Amino acid sequence: MKIILADSAGFCFGVKRATQLAFKAAEDNCPICSLGPIIHSPQVVERLEEKGVRVVERVEDIERGTVIIRSHGITSGELADIHARNLIPVDATCPFVKKVQDYVTLLCAEGYAVVLVGEKDHPEVQGIISYADQAEVAVVADSEEAQRLPSQSKIGLVAQTTQSFENFHQVADVCLRKAKEVRVFNTICDATSVRQDEAREIAQQVDLMLILGGFNSANTTRLAQICRELQPRTYHVEVASQIKPEWFVGVKVVGVTAGASTPRWIIDEVLRLVGSFEN
Ligand code: F3S
Repeated sequence: MKIILADSAGFCFGVKRATQLAFKAAEDNCPICSLGPIIHSPQVVERLEEKGVRVVERVEDIERGTVIIRSHGITSGELADIHARNLIPVDATCPFVKKVQDYVTLLCAEGYAVVLVGEKDHPEVQGIISYADQAEVAVVADSEEAQRLPSQSKIGLVAQTTQSFENFHQVADVCLRKAKEVRVFNTICDATSVRQDEAREIAQQVDLMLILGGFNSANTTRLAQICRELQPRTYHVEVASQIKPEWFVGVKVVGVTAGASTPRWIIDEVLRLVGSFEN
């Protein structure tokens, strides 16, 4: 049986960096916790827990020690609380997310009405808009929502890093009709679209597609949806033990990809297992 593994399978740059920082910090610090699970992988969170990293949801619940800030980032208020409580932050905010936060601060300081394309309740978005200081950021999901924005003299436009370029472009189009001056920072990180495009390409060449990653990971679930549309024999699993040999009856070529928070050891385990099936 032939296995095609996507080059883009697994950790993106920001998640890899956050995970490395977390494991390193766990070696050097005690007590230590992370503000929310460091990534959407129960297996990685469990390994970090074994190394003493507790998951805490609110800064108020941390009395002392080191706190790891995950790749999505946190709000400016939470960061201020961390400092006020004399906690030691290990900032694993993805540099691409940090950049959006900085652009929002800059645009507000220069008097732009800031519009952010993204999901209102996502922690990354909550973090980003908190950097507007006193100003308010209008969060819109798409061009339809952008149509409802009031006209402004100047608009500053940014995006949540995981947005699609098409959606961002459509909102930019609407903003151009709402203001005489529009300043656009394309803050989309292409790790997601690169992974999705590669998954689409592989799904069309194989008899069965395996998607690896947390069931609570939005980007992994989306990968599974994309592949299922092209290859009905698509299975989303978190770990190798969930794979059933009977899925592979008559299968000659298997495609494998994994979400941005799936660790390499899980990918390797799956490759070993699938490689052991005779077909
Ligand atoms: Fe950063 Fe892009 Fe990953 S924004 S966390 S490298 S998906």
